[in-house]
Amino acid sequence: MRTVLVTGGAGFVGSHCVASLLERGFAVVVADNLSTGHRAAVPAGAAFVHLDLNDRAGVAALFQRHRFEAVLHFAAKSLVGESMQNPFLYLRENYVTSLNVIEAAVAAGVRKMVVSSTANLFGTPERMPIDAETAIDPGSPYGESKYLVERALLWADRCAGLKSACLRYFNAAGCHPDGLLGEDHHPETHLIPLVLDAAAGRRSHIEVYGDDYPTPDGTCVRDYIHVMDLADAHIRVLDALETRSVRYNLGTGTGYSVREVIAAVERVTGKTVPVKVGPRRPGDPAILVASSDRIREELGWSPRFDTLDGIIASAWAWRAAHPDGYGDGPAR
Ligand SMILES: NC(=O)c1ccc[n+]([C@@H]2O[C@H](COP(=O)([O-])OP(=O)(O)OC[C@H]3O[C@@H](n4cnc5c(N)ncnc54)[C@H](O)[C@@H]3O)[C@@H](O)[C@H]2O)c1
Repeated sequence: MRTVLVTGGAGFVGSHCVASLLERGFAVVVADNLSTGHRAAVPAGAAFVHLDLNDRAGVAALFQRHRFEAVLHFAAKSLVGESMQNPFLYLRENYVTSLNVIEAAVAAGVRKMVVSSTANLFGTPERMPIDAETAIDPGSPYGESKYLVERALLWADRCAGLKSACLRYFNAAGCHPDGLLGEDHHPETHLIPLVLDAAAGRRSHIEVYGDDYPTPDGTCVRDYIHVMDLADAHIRVLDALETRSVRYNLGTGTGYSVREVIAAVERVTGKTVPVKVGPRRPGDPAILVASSDRIREELGWSPRFDTLDGIIASAWAWRAAHPDGYGDGPAR
């Protein structure tokens, strides 16, 4: 049986990937400290190890107990704003936890690693879409910490032959089509679940941060990629790692403005979303859209959930059935 380690498998993207791995016949061990994840999000069928990846000896011991074919590393702190407040926490923790995993993987003879990277690697690029040629210039300590991990993996390949895929996601969204897994962050910072909460009356309104950007309706434009399409990319890339390391941008290639997301939520839910327009947030680029041409050409990957309404409908199905999320967070 092909056994893989999934760090952060109790989180939003990681749990969906665990479900896809199990569906495709992999044996899965999840390592997570549940700092932002949920025990109930770990699909039945995966083994769960409660572990903080800052614990270097604990990470090394995990690799001694199992023979992993590959590591899928999702665990990280991932709030851009928090990283601007606490830069050294982000730079240290995301780098050190990743180094602990990379080092233990190399020591155990693991040959493949897939890591969650981010569009924040590119800061505020002048040219859209963001493609394989776009210069890296991280927009925050969070983005910088992910770039440090990408650099560490470059050396892990050169010095020890560990092949890696760094998948630079744009805005992950949507939920598993069977309705069992969803998105439940505390605090929630992602637009789609926030707008869904406003539609459901669990928030008084949605605040739009600036409507004077140089975009068609003045609000920021982002590229929303379904978690199941991200999961598919993680599994496809495992074969490519037989021979080489890769870096891919992952989005649908279509951008939607904040107002378009709100309108889509109103269409899908049939409810009205109260909106208030506030000031811009510092550091928010007007438009972020990915070109995923490289992964499309090299791996034949393409998003199956490629409409905004489809992405939102899957998120709404879970949100409506689980108004308190996984039920282990603070009351909302
Ligand atoms: N969600 C997005 O839109 C998005 C976009 C780009 C990149 N990413 C990256 O994708 C990954 C997953 O994001 P997510 O939205 O699922 O986040 P998440 O917070 O839902 O999941 C992260 C998981 O990692 C665990 N974790 C964190 N620190 C840990 C540690 N020290 N030891 C063990 N476990 C730890 C958490 O408990 C959680 O289960 C992250 O690396 C994030 O930076 C996410």
